Amino acid sequence: MSLLEIKIFPDPILRVPSAPVTQFDHGLHELLDNMFETMQHAEGIGLAAPQVGVSKRVVVIDISHEDLNPENVRLPSEEPGILPYGISEKRLELINPEIIKEELTISSDEGCLSIPDFRETIKRKGKVSVRSQDRNGKVFEFEASELLARCVQHEIDHIDGILFIDHLSRLKKHLFNRWCDKNLNGAREERLGN
Ligand code: CO
Repeated sequence: MSLLEIKIFPDPILRVPSAPVTQFDHGLHELLDNMFETMQHAEGIGLAAPQVGVSKRVVVIDISHEDLNPENVRLPSEEPGILPYGISEKRLELINPEIIKEELTISSDEGCLSIPDFRETIKRKGKVSVRSQDRNGKVFEFEASELLARCVQHEIDHIDGILFIDHLSRLKKHLFNRWCDKNLNGAREERLGN
């Protein structure tokens, strides 16, 4: 396994919509393992492939992270206690994930490994149902709530080229641009109202 370089805003790769995964091969497994190691090293809860420069619909989430409650994963499983391959006690691996149901709206604090040290309150759904494939291509479904639901939505946004700052109000986008001037030597994007 090896650590990958995390791409930092405004790297244009973060805006490229990712392609679906069609090959569930050794290359994918290696990417997943390296992403997981990179995320843990950076002390993140979730990481999407575009953040390491790979435009593929691949996400990893550390469900053993101290901020997450394992109770927030619910499986519609006929066999309780048996986790699908995409979910272990530690890892949630999502390949080609999609949100199939969502409810409630909750405002909470959010950050991103690609925008270090900027945090802001964002509205997200409080509960989502997700359909995904595991590393071998098998389809599985689960429900996520609270911080895990937020994390899943944040990471799925990443594979669509969307960043959490896109959900900021006009006023807060203005504050973000000021933050860029101070912390990123003015590096910012047209789309955030330059
Ligand atoms: Co992020």
